[in-house]
Amino acid sequence: METYEKGFLAASGAVLVVFLAALTYSTLGLGIVLPTQSGRVYCRSNQKLLKVLRQTPPFDAPGLKQIAPGKYEAVIIGRTWAFMPDEIDVPAGAEVTFRATSADVVHGFFIPNTRVNMMLIPGEISVATYKFTRPGEYLILCHEYCGILHHTMSGKVVVK
Ligand code: CUA
Repeated sequence: METYEKGFLAASGAVLVVFLAALTYSTLGLGIVLPTQSGRVYCRSNQKLLKVLRQTPPFDAPGLKQIAPGKYEAVIIGRTWAFMPDEIDVPAGAEVTFRATSADVVHGFFIPNTRVNMMLIPGEISVATYKFTRPGEYLILCHEYCGILHHTMSGKVVVK
């Protein structure tokens, strides 16, 4: 075997070890995980999903709810081309669990500079939690193309 080959083999092995270590650190150390499906709202083909959502908890009452001191749950429905509700007001330091779904097509749910980055899939419930320590306005953006007015679909989290 050529010396070069041994070198490249060793380098490839080292790269694998580094990637694996980075992956392990980001999941176990930093707690960065992909959002998982956390529930589903069933809808028969002869039913309108939005109507079903309006009768199914927690989406029958979208909005913000305090669940414990400093902890909140925000239930949000995404639809073409708005988030319902489109504004959430919380005090600084609040830990907010977003529970969201889509009533029609696939939408995005992205809050820049936070770890909140989800897809909203019709009838599937997406969940993400984030602690808003710094006051300010945080935009909620739809980052999945969802039609002609996709670029207007936004909301905000106001942290006071
Ligand atoms: Cu909703 Cu793009």
